Amino acid sequence: MPLVSAAMAGASGGELAARVTKAGGFGFIGTGYEDVSKLRNELALARTILKTPSPSPLKIGVGFLVWTLEKNPQAMELVTAALDERVKAVWLFAGNDLYRWVEFVRKYDAERGILADEERTLILVQVNSVEEALKAVEMKVDVISVQGIEAGGHGHSQALPLLTLLPTILRALPAPSPSFPPSTPTPVILAAGGLTHGSHLVSLLALGAHGIVIGTRFLLTPSSLYTPAQKSALAAAPSSASVRSFAFDAVRGTTGWPEGVDGRGLKNGIIKDEEEGVDIEERKRRYGESVKSGDVERMVTWAGASIGLVDRVEEVEDIVNEIHDEAVRSLQATAKLLEQ
Ligand SMILES: Cc1cc2nc3c(=O)[nH]c(=O)nc-3n(C[C@H](O)[C@H](O)[C@H](O)COP(=O)(O)O)c2cc1C
Repeated sequence: MPLVSAAMAGASGGELAARVTKAGGFGFIGTGYEDVSKLRNELALARTILKTPSPSPLKIGVGFLVWTLEKNPQAMELVTAALDERVKAVWLFAGNDLYRWVEFVRKYDAERGILADEERTLILVQVNSVEEALKAVEMKVDVISVQGIEAGGHGHSQALPLLTLLPTILRALPAPSPSFPPSTPTPVILAAGGLTHGSHLVSLLALGAHGIVIGTRFLLTPSSLYTPAQKSALAAAPSSASVRSFAFDAVRGTTGWPEGVDGRGLKNGIIKDEEEGVDIEERKRRYGESVKSGDVERMVTWAGASIGLVDRVEEVEDIVNEIHDEAVRSLQATAKLLEQ
């Protein structure tokens, strides 16, 4: 099924990624701020769940926040840890020099003799604008995830809503070459941001995407790395609860994002403190206390605009199956409407 679970730093580990793949979608482990050994553990867990012995290719992907790679002395080791496990795909987002890492992956594949198209590591780049999408095409990436302003977690604060951004990008992409094999590879296009339901999948396919990416809904599974308190807060959150702000990163000290990027999360005490003009050192202190005590009121809990559409914790397999069945029902109902 054309359903991908997002690379979510701090939230999607090996269990979530592997169970999405096992259920018929495709899952990503997210990395951002952790070290190589943590990633190796998550990859090993995914191998166990997927019953894929090493060195067979591993049918999940690993996501990297490029700006954190740019600051990480262990960056090459981190990316290589994923490539050595023969993950099927690498996900790149939010950095000033994505191309360096596209080249790194391609070169690493070539050096170890992986040249056949069906064997090489697929490269996904997530974009927020036409300009970024055109750059991704120039870099000859395999997959582009078009992320609208509705998305949970980070993205450009000025991104368009997905229903506008996707057709705008599709219209701007070069037409597929008529030659065979095509001289300009056309990337697979995924849509991301505020998607929860099978009818979302159907509508995005009708708009021209090849599949969808879901992040927030998969946070509400026993398999995500969020705490039980964060999952309960997400389940209880009303539709007005998600907000875009840089205040979340300001209190965490994760402030190296490219210009214009902020994050969408649950509106809580972090936002209230900022609105009330509380001094940043005091806001950081309150955040630190909340993390220590596990109090979600001042923890960072990323959540997309569709948070009001999800209200319970479910197993990964149930979500994937539900979305599949809803998509089929939605297509059937839509076809009937067209016949009228
Ligand atoms: C908790 C969380 C962490 C995220 N971390 C990353 C990340 O590490 N890299 C990335 O490219 N996108 C990240 N995102 C954004 C996702 O890739 C995706 O665009 C988004 O989840 C889609 O919107 P949705 O959450 O409304 O489904 C994250 C999103 C969430 C909710």
